[in-house]
This record gives sequence, C-alpha cells and structure tokens, in this order.
Amino acid sequence: MSAALKRAGAGAPRHFLELLDIDSGALRRMLDIGLRAKRGELTGKPLAGKHIAMIFEKPSTRTRVSFEVGIRQLGGEVVSLAGKDTQLGRGESPADTARVLSRYVDAIILRTDRVAKLRELAAHATVPVINALTDVSHPCQLMADVMTFEEHRGPIAGQVNAWTGDGNNVARSFIQAAARFHFRLRLATPPELAPPAELIAQARAEGADVELFTDPFEAVRGARCVVTDTWISMSDDKASIRQRHNLLAPYQLNSRLLAAAAPDALVMHCLPAHRGEEITDEVIDGPQSVVFDEAENRLHAQKGVLLWALGLA
Ligand code: CP
Ligand code: NVA
Repeated sequence: MSAALKRAGAGAPRHFLELLDIDSGALRRMLDIGLRAKRGELTGKPLAGKHIAMIFEKPSTRTRVSFEVGIRQLGGEVVSLAGKDTQLGRGESPADTARVLSRYVDAIILRTDRVAKLRELAAHATVPVINALTDVSHPCQLMADVMTFEEHRGPIAGQVNAWTGDGNNVARSFIQAAARFHFRLRLATPPELAPPAELIAQARAEGADVELFTDPFEAVRGARCVVTDTWISMSDDKASIRQRHNLLAPYQLNSRLLAAAAPDALVMHCLPAHRGEEITDEVIDGPQSVVFDEAENRLHAQKGVLLWALGLA
C-alpha cells in the first residue's frame, strides 16, 4: 500500500499488541498459518515487496532471529535496528517515530521495556505494530507455546497448564492466552510477585479459568504442562536480585515438583534459561522438556502473526 493510501486511512492497521486485544478466531487463524508454514505448505513469497522495521531496545536471540529469518523466508525485507542506534533511543517520541516509519515500511516490530512506548507507537502508526516483548507482556511467545502444546498433546482447550515462579511478562501473556485459547491455568507465585489483580479480573471477565496459588505443588497437581521463566527479567531492578532469589527459590522447576504434575506433563520455558535457578538441568534436558520445539515454533507461529497483521490472512 502506498504511503498516501495509508495516510488516507484505508482501514485501521491490525496491531498485534496483546492477546486480549484480538479475538480467538483471528489468533487461531495465525496458528493455523504457522502450522502450515512448519509443514512447508505456505507457497509463494507472500511478503514480497514488503519492508518491515524491527527495533530492539533490549537484547534478544530468539525473537530477533526468528522474525528476521521468517520475514526473509516469506520474501520480505527487514530493517533491523538496536534502540540505541535510533533517535528513539535519544528521546525522539514514539509518536513521531511511528509517523516517520509508517512512511517507509509496511510493519514495525518493537521490543521495549516500557509498554507505554509500544502503545504510543501503535496509536500513531498507520502500519501494523507487533509486540516483541515489553515489561508486561510477550504475546508472540504464547503463540509458540500454544502451538507447541497442541503439536505434542492435541487441542489445548480445557487442559490444565501450570506456571511456577515470577508473575512476570510471560506469565501475564499466559493469563491472556488462557482466555483466548480456553485452557485452564494455575499459577503459583510468591504473593509479592503475583500478576496484577486487574489483569486476572480482565481475563476472567473474558472467560479465562485462572487460579492463583502460593504453593507450587498445589498448582502443578495434575497439570499437562508446567511452565517457568527467569527469576530476573530484563526490566527488573537489578538491586532486588537477592531478595527475588530468596522469594522464588521454593518455586524452582525441579524433578520433585515435576513429579507432582501429570505423568506425561510437558515442560516449557521461553528461554533464555538460568539453569540451577528457576529450572534444573535434569528437567530442562529431561524427556518431558519441549523447550527447543518451543523455541523453533517462534519462527513458524510468527509467520502467522505477520501475515495476519499485514492483512494477508
Ligand atoms: N524467548 C525469547 O523471547 O527469547 P529472546 O529474548 O532471545 O528473544
Ligand atoms: N521474562 C523474560 C523473558 C525473556 C524472553 C524477560 O523479560 O527478560
């Protein structure tokens, strides 16, 4: 689409910001495309002629490489920027950045530690904006996680999934995913690190079956999948490391905790893992772990996100 047409308001862009912003049917379509991509059934180069800007204000291995490779495999061009190399990193507003980039590219992917920046960018962009992780969410990760569960265990709807550890950005997207993909979610966190009550209420109002626990053994009982993540996220205050380790030590995903889940429970972790902290070697390297399938599925699931966002699916 030409810049002029975009300015003329030819339809609002399809942003991929939070799972709760998008209906279940559209999310399902994205996963179906992701599966087709994985099976090699996506023919042609649907992103030929499209340019996509990726701005990473925080480090990334999986998200950056999987998006970049995925876009190229679909025939698109990528402009990849570290936040500090852009004027955004020197204080240019997200609104002006959005107005300018919308004149050059067909979509913008942003990783930032302030969700307000993502929201401002999206509010002023005339092209789709994709959330590649913020301090409060990581929806692309959950698309890959749902895909991974279903590949190994069939439909996720109605199945019990458990989270143990910090109620962080990934946990919050997990809560939103429970509403949109209709699975049961049991989260064990220290009370101080529980996800925000407003988010739980919002997800429940959307039909999510979410239960909060402080005892991880109770939370994982009978679960078909147990998930954890780092105790210190990129946006966390590094001064609180010792306190967080003390609070989170009882939530470690080790073989004793895993034994309390269903015998065939899958183990997931978005990675990077801090082995010996939130997860032990024997669990992450054990037969129930699907963490590298999960990492691979970022590539496939995000193709669905891209094609949906660009109105090509
Ligand atoms: N899981 C994930 O988003 O990893 P990266 O930080 O390496 O992108
Ligand atoms: N919770 C982690 C996820 C990294 C992919 C973080 O935000 O650092």
